[in-house]
Amino acid sequence: MKRNNFKLVDVQKVYGGPEGELWELVMGEQIHVGGWKSSKELADKAGVKKGMKVLDLCSALGAGLRFLVRNYDVEGFGLDGTRHMIDEAIRRTEAEGMSSRILMKLGDVTSIPWPDKAFDLVWGEDAWCYVVDKEKLVREAHRVLGKGGKIAFTDWIEGDAGLSDSEASRINAFMKFPYMESHEGYEKVLKDAGFKIEVSDDLTADFADHISLYIKMLKEQLTFDALKIIGNDMNLFSQMGGEMVFMEEMARKNKLGRCRMTAVK
Ligand SMILES: C[S@@+](CC[C@H](N)C(=O)[O-])C[C@H]1O[C@@H](n2cnc3c(N)ncnc32)[C@H](O)[C@@H]1O
Repeated sequence: MKRNNFKLVDVQKVYGGPEGELWELVMGEQIHVGGWKSSKELADKAGVKKGMKVLDLCSALGAGLRFLVRNYDVEGFGLDGTRHMIDEAIRRTEAEGMSSRILMKLGDVTSIPWPDKAFDLVWGEDAWCYVVDKEKLVREAHRVLGKGGKIAFTDWIEGDAGLSDSEASRINAFMKFPYMESHEGYEKVLKDAGFKIEVSDDLTADFADHISLYIKMLKEQLTFDALKIIGNDMNLFSQMGGEMVFMEEMARKNKLGRCRMTAVK
């Protein structure tokens, strides 16, 4: 599995600057593939219930937690490593009148600043692909869950057909991922940390369709807005479009994918 040398500091540059804004433009405030529908399916598969204490690891703009509070009446806690995302999450949560239900902290998800057994559910949506040490993240998730607590997440993965080193390097360099786990790899990471897997879904076909959708939106609807974010640099816009077309091709070939997993402690 090809690894790039990206660290949290590189991710902070993405989500503290124009790239993060671009991802919000194409995906919306929930910066993950499939938006509301994907969150609903994940929450239902995880059996989210009223009153649960939920920790969102890589909570970004806090939209995942606001979704869970509004639709499932949970108590929300968010952890993200980018100051700008935490500030925005707090501001937007206040604006929606949910500050008493959601607490946000700045920090690294591989060193969770909460005590053992503090939560009923650890949640993640399309973000752990940015994390260098996913084994440590999952071990930390296990530590902060009470007995019978669950971990539930979606993530970008290396597809079952496998990426060549150069294909993986190209995608990781564009996305600023240190590496992507495989579906099997995630199953092993979960089991090694002491979890029992309950749901392990391959969402790759739907993922490829979403990349096509983003390309179409950027080309046919959001060009002006996207160019504004990147300083009206048409060359950069074309280059980024080319990388997205490449990712779509990889997803169609089952080399790049997405999974949904839930597991119990
Ligand atoms: C794609 S966004 C997450 C989207 C969010 N889950 C949602 O559905 O709206 C990725 C986020 O992960 C955060 N992140 C990446 N690596 C991290 C780490 N090691 N610790 C904490 N946050 C991290 C970034 O700061 C960024 O806000």
